[in-house]
Amino acid sequence: MSLNPPIRDWHGQRVWLVGASSGIGEAVAHALSARGAVLALSGRRAAALDAVAEAVGGAEVLPLDISEAGAVDAAWAALGERWGACDVVIFLAGAYRPTPAAELDAKVIRDTVSVNLSATMAGVAAVLPAMLARGRGYVAMVSSVAGYSGLPRACVYGATKAGLTHFAESLFLELRPRGVGVHVINPGFVDTRLTAGNDFTMPALITPAEAAEALVDGLARGEFETHFPKRFSRVLKLLRLLPYGLYFPLVRRLTGGGRA
Ligand SMILES: NC(=O)c1ccc[n+]([C@@H]2O[C@H](COP(=O)([O-])OP(=O)(O)OC[C@H]3O[C@@H](n4cnc5c(N)ncnc54)[C@H](OP(=O)(O)O)[C@@H]3O)[C@@H](O)[C@H]2O)c1
Repeated sequence: MSLNPPIRDWHGQRVWLVGASSGIGEAVAHALSARGAVLALSGRRAAALDAVAEAVGGAEVLPLDISEAGAVDAAWAALGERWGACDVVIFLAGAYRPTPAAELDAKVIRDTVSVNLSATMAGVAAVLPAMLARGRGYVAMVSSVAGYSGLPRACVYGATKAGLTHFAESLFLELRPRGVGVHVINPGFVDTRLTAGNDFTMPALITPAEAAEALVDGLARGEFETHFPKRFSRVLKLLRLLPYGLYFPLVRRLTGGGRA
C-alpha cells in the first residue's frame, strides 16, 4: 500500500535538492534530470553546484549554508519568484564525523546537530507554509540506518539521524492528510566524501548512483521510508528488535565495539 502519492512521472516536476554538490545529492540530480524533472540545487560550494548543474543540462543554483539562520527561507523565496511553486524538496545536507565516546567534542556535537537536525527541521519549516497553502507538495529527508539504534563511534551522528527520522514520522501523521507527502530515506554505507574517512571496511557499500536509484524507486512506490541496500538495512532493522541483553553483546561482536 502506498503511504504517499507515488511519483512515477517526473516530467516537469520542480524539485529542490538541498545538498546536491556531491555524493548522493549529485547522483539524485542526475537520476531526476534524466527523468525530466526541473531542478534547483543547493549546498555551500557554489562552483561544485555549477558543475553539477552543467552536467545535468541546466538547473537553478542557490548556494547556501543550511546552518545559517534564514538562508533556506531566502533561497525558498527566490525559488518561488523563479518557479511560482516547487513540487518536491529533498533535504540531503549532512555532516558526519566518527565520534568515539571518549573523544566527545562540543564543537562536533554543535555542528553535526545543527546541519543534520535543527537546520534541516528549520528548512522544512521554511517550505511547509507554501505547500500547505497549495494543499500539495512533498518533503523528503535523507536520514540514515545509523539512526535505528545505538552504534559505537556514532553517538552524535546516529542521534541526529534518529531524531530526523522521528521528526519525519511525526510530520507524516499530521501533513499527509493535508496533501503534503513526507518521505524519509535511510541509506546504509554509500561511497561518498562523507564516508571517505572511515577507517574500517564498510559492509554492503554501494555507489551514490545506486543510492539515488533506490531513493527514486522509493518515491515511485509512494513509500514513507526507503531503506537500502536491503541486505544491510534489514539486518539492522532486525537487530533493533532485540532486547538490550542480546543487542549490546551482538553489536559489540559485529563491530569490535568501535575499536579504531
Ligand atoms: N554516505 C553514506 O554512507 C550515508 C549513509 C547514510 C546517510 N547518509 C546521508 O546522506 C546525505 C548525503 O551525504 P553524502 O553521503 O552524499 O555526502 P556528501 O557527498 O558529503 O554530501 C553532503 C551534501 O550536503 C551538503 N552540505 C553539508 N553541509 C551543508 C551545509 N551546512 N549547508 C548546505 N549544504 C551542506 C554538501 O554540500 P557542501 O559541502 O557544498 O555544503 C553536500 O552536497 C547526508 O545527510 C548523510 O548523512 C549518507
